[in-house]
Amino acid sequence: MQRNGGGVGAGGQPWVLRRVRLTWLSFMLFFILVFFPLIAHYYLTTIDEAGGPDKHIFGPRPGGELCEAKHVQDLCRIRESVSEELLQLEAKRQELNGEIARLNLRIEACKRSIDSAKQDLLQLKNVISQTEHSYKELMAQNQPKLSLPVRLLPDKEDPGLPPPKSARSCRLRSCFDYGRCPLTSGFPVYVYDTGSYPWGDYLDPLVKQAFAASVKSNIYVTDNPSIACLYLVLVGELQESSSSPLQSPSELEKQLKALPYWRSDGHNHVLVHLSRKSMTQNFLYNVSTGRAAVAQSTFFEQQYREGFDLVVSPLVHALSEPNFLEVPPQVPVKRKYLFTFQGERVESLRSSLQETPPQSFEEEMEGDPPADYDDRIIGTLKAVQDSHLDQVLVEFTCKNPRPKREERLEVLKASTFALVIAPGDGQLVASAGCGMRLFEALEVGAIPVLLGDHTRLPYHQFIRWSEAVIIVPKPRVTELHFLLRSLSDNDMLAMRRQGRFLWETYFSTSENVLSTILASIRTSIQVPAAPIKEEPAHEIPHKAGKLAGTDANLADNGDLDLGPVETEPPYASPRFLRNFTYTAADTYRAWNRAPGPFHLFPHTPLDPVLPSEAKFLGSGTGFRPIGGGTGGSGKEFQAALGGNVPREQFTVVMLTYEREEVLMNSLERLNGLPYLNKVVVVWNSPKPPSDDLLWPDIGLPIVVVRTEKNSLNNRFLPWDAVETEAILSIDDDAHLRHDEIMFGFRVWREARDRIVGFPGRYHAWDINHQSWLYNSNYSCELSMVLTGAAFFHKYYAYLYSYVMPQAIRDMVDEYINCEDIAMNFLVSHITRKPPIKVTSRWTFRCPGCPQALSHDDSHFHERHKCINFFVKVYGYMPLLYTQFRVDSVLFKTRLPHDKTKCFKFI
Ligand SMILES: *[C@@H]1O[C@H](CO)[C@@H](O)[C@H](O)[C@H]1NC(C)=O
Ligand SMILES: *[C@@H]1O[C@H](CO)[C@@H](O)[C@H](O)[C@H]1NC(C)=O
Ligand SMILES: *[C@@H]1O[C@H](CO)[C@@H](O)[C@H](O)[C@H]1NC(C)=O
Repeated sequence: MQRNGGGVGAGGQPWVLRRVRLTWLSFMLFFILVFFPLIAHYYLTTIDEAGGPDKHIFGPRPGGELCEAKHVQDLCRIRESVSEELLQLEAKRQELNGEIARLNLRIEACKRSIDSAKQDLLQLKNVISQTEHSYKELMAQNQPKLSLPVRLLPDKEDPGLPPPKSARSCRLRSCFDYGRCPLTSGFPVYVYDTGSYPWGDYLDPLVKQAFAASVKSNIYVTDNPSIACLYLVLVGELQESSSSPLQSPSELEKQLKALPYWRSDGHNHVLVHLSRKSMTQNFLYNVSTGRAAVAQSTFFEQQYREGFDLVVSPLVHALSEPNFLEVPPQVPVKRKYLFTFQGERVESLRSSLQETPPQSFEEEMEGDPPADYDDRIIGTLKAVQDSHLDQVLVEFTCKNPRPKREERLEVLKASTFALVIAPGDGQLVASAGCGMRLFEALEVGAIPVLLGDHTRLPYHQFIRWSEAVIIVPKPRVTELHFLLRSLSDNDMLAMRRQGRFLWETYFSTSENVLSTILASIRTSIQVPAAPIKEEPAHEIPHKAGKLAGTDANLADNGDLDLGPVETEPPYASPRFLRNFTYTAADTYRAWNRAPGPFHLFPHTPLDPVLPSEAKFLGSGTGFRPIGGGTGGSGKEFQAALGGNVPREQFTVVMLTYEREEVLMNSLERLNGLPYLNKVVVVWNSPKPPSDDLLWPDIGLPIVVVRTEKNSLNNRFLPWDAVETEAILSIDDDAHLRHDEIMFGFRVWREARDRIVGFPGRYHAWDINHQSWLYNSNYSCELSMVLTGAAFFHKYYAYLYSYVMPQAIRDMVDEYINCEDIAMNFLVSHITRKPPIKVTSRWTFRCPGCPQALSHDDSHFHERHKCINFFVKVYGYMPLLYTQFRVDSVLFKTRLPHDKTKCFKFI
C-alpha cells in the first residue's frame, strides 16, 4: 500500500518548504512595489496640505524658526503615523503569513487524503476485479448444471437385459445390471447371511467367521437389499469332511435359484469362494451360475469369464492379523538362497477336482504343452542346484508329512527369489495352490518368480504384477538362472517393496481380501470409492478482543508487501473434482501405488498439471499469472501467486499444550499474513483455555479444536475445519517471519507431494551398532524437515491418520515424541522423494520462549529408537537424502535499479 504513495511523499517535503520561502519573497516584492509608492504618495500629499514641510527633506526652503518647529512637529506626527501604519501592516503581514501556513497545512492534508483515497480506490478496484474474477469463475464452474441420472427402479424383477447366448459368455455389458449402480450411488452391497441358505451350514467355520467379521467392518455393506448394487454370497470353502448335497450341481443350482434376490438369473450377484488350504475343490465348475459372477482362486480356462469372474487370493490369515514387525527386513537384498522351490511334483489338478475335463470345447487341447513338460523343469532346476554356482534349494518330493506353513516361511525368508510353478495343466488359468505359494513369498519378501505365463494372477486387470513378480514362460526355464543373476539390486529391492505393498494392501487380512473383491468390481463398473473420513472439529469457544498488530516484535516481517491481505476474501480449495477420473482414468496408479484404491480423497497432490498456455486459452479458472502473463520482478511477483496451479490459500495448524502466553504471541504474529485462510489451534490438553484469556483478533477465523486425549498424532488429524489443500504446521513457539512463510508456501505449490519447510534433520548410520541415529547437527545433507514449521498436503493428514500402520501412531503416543519423524517417513515412503528445505533458517524456536524438552538427552535417545522402530514397520528405510535447499529466484542477484527482488531478505 505504501508502495504507490512513496514517490510523492519522498519529493514532497523540500518542495513545499521551497514554496513557502518563495511565497514570502513574492510577498515582500509585492509590498515594495505596491505599498511603498502608496506610502510615499500619502506622505507627500500630507506634507503639501500641511504647508510642505517635506521641502526640508527634499531641499532647503526659505522660512522662519516657528515654521521649522512646526515642520518638525509635522514630521514627528507623520513619522508616528507612518510607523503606526507600518506596525499595522506588519501585524497584517504576520496574520497573512499565518493564514498561508494554515492553508499550506490544509493543502498538505488534502494531498494526503487524496493519496489515501487513491490507495483506497486502487484497493477497491482490486477487490472489485478480484470479486469479478471469482464471480466469473464461479459462474463458469456452475454453468453446465449436471443432474444425476435417473435411478432405475431397484426392485424391478426383470433387469431388461437381453439374455446372453450362454452364461459362459457373460460379460459385464451383457450380464450386469448397471441400472442398480449409478455412478453416484455409493456402491451399496448386500451380503447374504450364511444362515439364510442351506449350504451355509457346510462352510468352513473359520472362513465363515472371518468373512462375517470383514463384512461387519466394511463401509459399503448395506442391510437394505432393495437398493443394493451388488449381492454377495459366500459359497466356500466347504468343510473338508462335508458329505453335503452340494456334490450334485443341480442341487446347488436349485439352492442358488432359491436365494431371495436371485431374480431368475442371479444378475449383480457374486459367489465368493475363499480357499484357506492350498488344495480346493472347484465345485462350482459344473454349476450353471447364471448371470452371477464367481470369485475364487481356481479356474479352468473354459470356466473363467474374462472381465467378469474374479480371480481372488486365498485366505491365508483367516482371523489373525499378520504381525508386520515379524516380516523380515527387505535389506540386504541377497539372502542365503538365490531361489528356492518346495513342493510336490506339479501334476494335473483335475484328478483332485473329481471332474472330467469338458470335452465340448473344440479348441480345447490345441497348443497345450505336453503333459510331462514339468520333467524338463525339474531336470533343469536340479542341474542349477547341482552346479553349486549359487546356493539354490529345490525340493520336488515332499518330506512326510508335508512342510507346515511355518517351515515353508522359514525357507522363504532365506530366499532372494521364490519359484512358483504354474500348474502343468494349461487349462488351469488360476489355482489356489499356486496363489498360496505366491502370497507366502510376497509376505516374507522373497521375490516371486512365476514359471508359466498363462496364469491369471488375482485382479490382473488392475494390478501390474510385473512390478512385483518375475513372470517367465516355461520354455525359458533353462535361462532362468542367468535371468535372475542379471537383475540389479535396485530393481530387486523395488520389486520386493512393491510386493510388500501389494500383499499388505490387498491380501494380508480377511478384511483386505473382502475390500479388494469389492474394489475390483467397483472399479470395473467405474463407481468412485467412498470418500475418506474427516475428523470433526469440536470447537472450544473463545474470546477474541485483543487488537493484533500492536506488538513491537511484529515489525520484522520481511519488510515488504507480500501479497493481497484485505483484497482477498477467504477461499477454500475446491473439493472432489476428480471423483470419476480417480476411479476410471487413474486406475493403474490407484491400484499400484500406496495407499491403494479404497478411498476417495477430496484432493490429492497428484493431479495432472495443465500445459501453461491452457490458462490463457480457455482453462484459466483460478489462475493468477504473474503480471497477467507477462511476468515481472518483485512488484508483479508479490501481486500474483503465479505458478502452474490455480490460486489457493493455506491453513495454519498449530498444536499447543498449556502455554497460553506463547500461543497468543504466535497467533498475533500471524496478523496480516497473505493467503492465510484460517488458523486451527489443536488444544492438546484436557484443561480448557483460561476464561479470561483474550485471543488476538487477526481478521481471520481462529478455530480452537478440542481433542480426545493429549496426543502428538492430533497434529495430523484431517480436521474438517481445514478447508485448504495446503497445511502449514507450526509449533506454538515457532518463530517464522511472514516473508519466510510466503516463500515456503510458494515453493510448496510447486512441490505439492512433499514436505516443504525450514528446520532440516538427518538420519545418520551408526557404523558401530549397524543402526540409525537421529541427527540435528548443522549438516550439508538432510533427509527430514521438521513439521514444527513445514507445509504439507492435507492428503498426508488422511494417510497419517487412517492408512499408516497403527504401530507407528502407538509409538508416537508411547514416547510423546517422533510424530514429525513419522510424517517424514510416510511422505518419503509414498513419494520416494526427500523433503524440501527452504531458506537458510535451521532452527525455528522463538528466542525468548521457555525451552521445550527437545534438547535433553532422553529426547534424542527416543528419536533414535523411533527411527529404528519405524524402519522395522516399513521393512526398509524410506527416508532419502537431499543436498539442496531452495532460495528465491532473485536472491543475491544484482538488479538494475528499476527492478525489485522477489523477497528482500530471502
Ligand atoms: C455336469 O457335467 C456332466 C458331465 O460331466 C453333465 O452331464 C452335466 O450336464 C453337467 N451339469 C451341468 C449343470 O452343466
Ligand atoms: C464426488 O464425491 C463426493 C463424495 O462422495 C461428493 O460429495 C461429490 O458430490 C461428488 N462429486 C461429483 C461431481 O460427483
Ligand atoms: C553432532 O556432531 C557431533 C560431532 O561433531 C556428535 O558428537 C554429536 O553426537 C552430533 N549430534 C547429534 C545429535 O547427532
